[in-house]
Amino acid sequence: MAPDNTITISNDVQKKWQTIVNILAKTIHIPAALIMRLSGPDIEVFISSETEHNPYVAGAKEHFENSGLYCETVIKTNNMLLVPNALSDDDWMNNPDIKLNMISYLGFPILNPDKTPFGTLCVLDRKENPYNDIHKELLENFRDAIERDIELIEKNFELQNTLSHVNSLLKEKEILLKEIHHRIKNSIASIGSLLRIQADSSDKSDVKGALQQAINRVRSIQIIYEKLLFDDNYTETSVKEYLEDLVQAIANSGTDNFNISIHTDIDDFPIAVKSLFPIGLIVNELITNSIKHAFGKTDKGTIQLLLKRQEQNITLSIQDNGSGVPVNFDHDTSNGFGLVLAKMLTQQLGGEFTMKKNNGTVITISFSI
Ligand SMILES: Nc1ncnc2c1ncn2[C@@H]1O[C@H](COP(=O)(O)OP(=O)(O)O)[C@@H](O)[C@H]1O
Ligand SMILES: [Mg+2]
Repeated sequence: MAPDNTITISNDVQKKWQTIVNILAKTIHIPAALIMRLSGPDIEVFISSETEHNPYVAGAKEHFENSGLYCETVIKTNNMLLVPNALSDDDWMNNPDIKLNMISYLGFPILNPDKTPFGTLCVLDRKENPYNDIHKELLENFRDAIERDIELIEKNFELQNTLSHVNSLLKEKEILLKEIHHRIKNSIASIGSLLRIQADSSDKSDVKGALQQAINRVRSIQIIYEKLLFDDNYTETSVKEYLEDLVQAIANSGTDNFNISIHTDIDDFPIAVKSLFPIGLIVNELITNSIKHAFGKTDKGTIQLLLKRQEQNITLSIQDNGSGVPVNFDHDTSNGFGLVLAKMLTQQLGGEFTMKKNNGTVITISFSI
């Protein structure tokens, strides 16, 4: 919208309207065909036909009220006006267009979509002209086309407004989501800190150990939120980057045995957060188990974490070359919490869990995404 609340007519539409007035002037054989437009307190020649002896220049303005112009009457009565010869018409013999020699007039009102006046479409002649029915029909039809153009322009304008409103709402939502993720991340970090304080304040090594395990589980979730915030994408993130960070964190806190090395070979693809939670917790449990149970305090050892994707099928395996599970060990009846949790989470992923002794222990989990 322009400052005076009038809509902006694009150059393309102005060109089209120029063609309309040019055709009108040529077909009716008159010097001037105009689209007049109200503009604040003024009336303006908006488009003027490119014809010989046309005295009207686009952009020329006059104060509208009491101008005495033909167009003032058309707009105020919202009706067609036909003046065949102003010089022989008492009502029109003193109108301002006579100075320009324009003594005959035919004009139709143009309305905005809300039925307020937009202006007029009119033709003027230097000689008496009664204009016939075909001329009137022609003007009326072009007037309708102009009104449809205005309606389209307004609809488009409203659409743009709605679009920018929706966009700003979307931006707001994104900011809100980021804020929420920040809070979740901070809350998880606080849970970790609370558990840490509790662990530090206990003298009992089994209590300390259990709390440390809980801290590690919390950490596997915390890293997910750090990744999500870093990516600015709150629904998925790279499984490779996440697991590499997680393994690093486990390695840094899980063992005093510096002879254990952890290798990873992880396909790089984004994965939904929903799957990332169980994957992270499973990896945390199984790598911790290998560190804790597979090797003696000074043993040299290797742990391998593989995650391979074939189309929608994922295979995750954790293998160590340690002592293997104890003789007669059956993971289905073992009452350790770590394996129970890992199997539960595998079920949540809709996957299969296998645990084998093979120069150490291999656990393979396969599932689809
Ligand atoms: N990688 C491994 N190497 C050797 N033994 C393992 C391994 N993983 C698990 N185990 C055996 O399985 C048991 C159950 O593990 P888990 O359910 O995680 O409980 P926890 O680790 O608390 O003992 C362990 O106590 C250990 O005897
Ligand atoms: Mg365990």
